[in-house]
Amino acid sequence: MPRIAVIEGDGIGHEVIAEGVRLLQALDSAHGLDLSFEHLDYGAQRYLDTGVTITPEEMQGLRDYDAIFLGALGDPRVKSNVHAKDILLGMRFQLDLYINLRPCKLLDARYCPLKDKGPDDLSFTVFRENTEGLYTGIGGQFKRGTADEVAIEAEMNTRKGVERIIRAAFAYADTHGLKRLCMSDKSNAMRHGHDLWQRVFREVAAEYSEIEASHLYVDVLTMEMVRAPERFDVLVTNNLFGDIVTDLGAQLQGGIGLAASGNLNPEARIGMFEPVHGSAPDIAGQGKANPLAAALSAGMLLNWLGHPELEKRIEQAVSHCLANELITPELGGSLSTSQVGDALIAAAS
Ligand code: NAD
Ligand code: IPM
Ligand code: MN
Repeated sequence: MPRIAVIEGDGIGHEVIAEGVRLLQALDSAHGLDLSFEHLDYGAQRYLDTGVTITPEEMQGLRDYDAIFLGALGDPRVKSNVHAKDILLGMRFQLDLYINLRPCKLLDARYCPLKDKGPDDLSFTVFRENTEGLYTGIGGQFKRGTADEVAIEAEMNTRKGVERIIRAAFAYADTHGLKRLCMSDKSNAMRHGHDLWQRVFREVAAEYSEIEASHLYVDVLTMEMVRAPERFDVLVTNNLFGDIVTDLGAQLQGGIGLAASGNLNPEARIGMFEPVHGSAPDIAGQGKANPLAAALSAGMLLNWLGHPELEKRIEQAVSHCLANELITPELGGSLSTSQVGDALIAAAS
């Protein structure tokens, strides 16, 4: 019986994950998956009520699930964002979820902001390094609040960390028959850490002669993603650049309400799946949130559990909603979050 930990988190996390779980339950009944769901209340409300973000035991307990399904963390009432740091970044770092897998796939040309681009032009997968880079919090503040204040945020790049994400990207390209892999960094300006990326990339690329390995500085990458997204099959980059380029990618595929992701450690068999978007406080609680990114993330979760055909089915259900304008207001539709959820279930069943 696969056990799924469900952490709705904050804001629209509650709304979109509720729809994702309903969809999973519908597929479970139709296909006898025998899924069990355990809801965990980690998030801003619990932190405000109890002062606890997540305990070390709770974090370790997450290892025992077959998958984790997460909404988003971030609440205007928690100005420090400490709970997001402890829970979201905590999972990524402490569970060592080193692959942030973010597919960017246009399902319906009408939703692409680029002129004359269709689904054939926009289908690539980003491997975002998820455990180091500029996200570790290494650094400090000196003379805080004075005119002489210094603030240092150090970027950490380890050989192990760089090598395993680059290897994961090549292995993915290899097993999926994808011929082009592009690594992106800023090694023209960042001579230490990104030189390491360059050297490791060349070493690993040499083992995959059938894959065309290329490199772009990240500024040029953003330009090329807009100019000619058909150039890309697989992208690999560091934590911060991966964060930024996947929001750009999300817009290219139709909007942040459509972008799904997985945070993975395949060796430890830990997978956490979440929409790329955040808690959207501006629309939270209004039934306006687009649940399609959560649905596609649920699809990735089913693939992780060994059901790639059901991921495909969810993708087809999302395409059906897009084609028939069964969509939320930010995409120009008039349906509520749960009405789109109903349409998804009808299309996927
Ligand atoms: P956001 O993604 O929450 O929202 C950006 C914009 O996109 C907003 O206008 C929002 O209304 C819209 N939007 C986002 N998701 C949508 C959806 N499903 N349907 C319709 N519209 C949607 O980004 P933000 O405003 O920068 O962040 C809000 C909070 O969420 C912050 O606290 C941030 O740190 C957090 N955040 C968390 C995660 C995560 O938990 N993985 C990811 C990103 C941001
Ligand atoms: C994401 C988010 C997070 C990140 C924030 C909330 C720390 O933007 O998952 O993309 O930067 O990784
Ligand atoms: Mn982000």
